[in-house]
Amino acid sequence: MILAIETSCDETSAAIVDRDFRILSNVVYSQIEDHERFGGVVPEIASRRHLELLPEIVTRALGDRCPTQVAVTRGPGLIGALLVGVTFAKAFALARGLPVYGIHHIEGHLHAVLLERKFPPPFLALVVSGGHTELIHVRAWGDYERVARTTDDAAGEAFDKAAALLALGFPGGPKLAALADSAGPERIHIAGDIMAGRDDFSFSGLKTALRLLVGKHEPAILAASFQDAVVKTLVQKTERALKKSSVDRLLLTGGVAANRSLRAAMSKLAEARGVEFAVPSAELCTDNAAMIGAAALTYPREAMKDDESAMPMISLSEN
Ligand code: KG4
Ligand code: ZN
Repeated sequence: MILAIETSCDETSAAIVDRDFRILSNVVYSQIEDHERFGGVVPEIASRRHLELLPEIVTRALGDRCPTQVAVTRGPGLIGALLVGVTFAKAFALARGLPVYGIHHIEGHLHAVLLERKFPPPFLALVVSGGHTELIHVRAWGDYERVARTTDDAAGEAFDKAAALLALGFPGGPKLAALADSAGPERIHIAGDIMAGRDDFSFSGLKTALRLLVGKHEPAILAASFQDAVVKTLVQKTERALKKSSVDRLLLTGGVAANRSLRAAMSKLAEARGVEFAVPSAELCTDNAAMIGAAALTYPREAMKDDESAMPMISLSEN
């Protein structure tokens, strides 16, 4: 049994996962209310809340179970937020004489699928979150090659900024998606992919195009048009990567993968190309500790040493 801890951004989460990838507990506390009035995540508040909440969250996740290993998100993320999780994990492990494994946050998102089904590499993964938008060729667990990335905003960040332009509040992604789902069939064309015809993503042009349309059309139509434009870009780049590679499986994961329209579009793409498709349930797409526990289970790792700590900028290949 493994105790996993995730505190890279504004979710305080602890989970217990067994070695068959079964979730025995997965407690996720979202700090939305603490950051809402500031319109975004305030790093200092996030760190302080993790510090206050983590003992209680871990106690709830543990119940009367005795884990034999500890896994914790080591990076990337907010330095103060990561430090709380890593320090807690190391102290817990030290007190009980257990090894603690530092996990890359994106590697966690890649592993979320295993908590619900088998999905062996090799496959292509589209990781779409608030901080990342990447296409990754997963050759084997632990062997990753990034084949495309965003040159500016991440997809989730684009959703959040678009939602702010439409005055929908924070966190913007789910709010924009809900408004888009309420729209009729009418759409405004939103162009702005400056990386059209290339492998990499770009979302800042879409955001600027949206800004010029705000006030001229109904918010629901703008939200739906923006969502369609983001989904279309993600589908196009994924299709491009699938054509270039020989993999026959596609994984969609990360917070934005909770988006219904994106899930449907990716599933359709996979079907059209004859590749097997997987996407975790929405609650396992967004940040949670169970996925960090799953990532500690697929291949042997070195335990964190005493002098090793959080790494806010760590890349997947350094991991
Ligand atoms: O993976 P995640 O929980 O945290 C990071 O690692 O960043 O992703 C959070 C991002 C936020 O930008 C949020 O707005 C977006 O995922 N998101 C969504 C939806 N649910 C969450 N974006 C669009 N539609 C959704 N339903
Ligand atoms: Zn994430």
